[in-house]
Amino acid sequence: MRVCVIGASGKLGQYLVGHSLDRGYEVVGVCRERSVGKLAAVADRITIVPGPTNDAGVIREAVAGCDGVLTVLVPWGVQQYSSGTAQAVLDHAEPGARLVFSCGWHISRDGRDRYSWRFRTALRLATWAGRVVRAVEIDDQVEACRRIFASDRRWTVVRGSDLEEGESQGLPVWSRHVGDPILASNLTRRTDFALFMVHALTDDTLVGEAPAIVGRLSPSARAA
Ligand SMILES: NC(=O)c1ccc[n+]([C@@H]2O[C@H](COP(=O)([O-])OP(=O)(O)OC[C@H]3O[C@@H](n4cnc5c(N)ncnc54)[C@H](OP(=O)(O)O)[C@@H]3O)[C@@H](O)[C@H]2O)c1
Repeated sequence: MRVCVIGASGKLGQYLVGHSLDRGYEVVGVCRERSVGKLAAVADRITIVPGPTNDAGVIREAVAGCDGVLTVLVPWGVQQYSSGTAQAVLDHAEPGARLVFSCGWHISRDGRDRYSWRFRTALRLATWAGRVVRAVEIDDQVEACRRIFASDRRWTVVRGSDLEEGESQGLPVWSRHVGDPILASNLTRRTDFALFMVHALTDDTLVGEAPAIVGRLSPSARAA
C-alpha cells in the first residue's frame, strides 16, 4: 500500500505518517517548504514533496501511484486553502484510490446534526473573527467538504471532536450525526483521530460516510 499524507508536518499529519509507517505502508508526505524540517525524524523513511497543498502540480506529483490519500483539511488564510486542497486531490488522485479527509464536527453532510447553542455560538464567533483578521476561512472548509460529498470518488470525511494529546486509547467510536448521545463527551486523542483515518483506508464500509468520532474511552462512548 502506498499512501500520500497531505499536510504531513502538522500534529495530525505526523500521527498519520507514523500510523501508516507502523502498518508497513510506503508513505509520500506533502508539506509547506518551510515545514520540511518538522519531518526530520522520518525523512529517511518517507518521500517528501514540499509545497502548498492547494497547488495542483504539487498534489499531482505526490499522489501519483498512491492507493490511498490522507488529507488534513485546514482553512488557513484567505486563499481557499481547504477547497483548493480538496479539489486538487479529487482531480489528481488515482482512479479508485481511497480518499480520507479530516475536518471538524461543524461540517454537516445531511443537515441532520444537532449542535448545542454553545457549539453554534463558538463556531459563529470563530468564523466571524477568522474572517475579520483574514487568518482563517472556516466557510472554505465547508465548501471543500461540499465538493467531496458531491464527488463520485471513494471518499470518507472524518469529523473530529475536540482534540487532546496523550497515549492512544484505540480506535474511536463514531456516529453519523453530531448530537447522538455516544458523542456527548466531545473529546478524542489526536493520535486516535489519525488512527481512525488510517483505518478508513481499508474499511470499505466507510466509503461515502462522514463519521463523527469520539474517544472510545470517553464517558459517553463507555455509557453507550
Ligand atoms: N484542533 C482541534 O481541536 C480540532 C478539532 C476537530 C477537528 N480538527 C481537524 O483536525 C485537523 C487538524 O487540525 P489541528 O488543529 O490538529 O492542526 P494540525 O494537525 O497541527 O495541522 C495544521 C496544518 O495546517 C498547516 N498550516 C498552519 N498554518 C498554515 C498556513 N498559514 N497556511 C497553510 N497551512 C498552514 C500546518 O502546516 P505546517 O506544518 O506547514 O505549519 C499543518 O499541516 C483539521 O482538519 C481540523 O479541521 C481539529
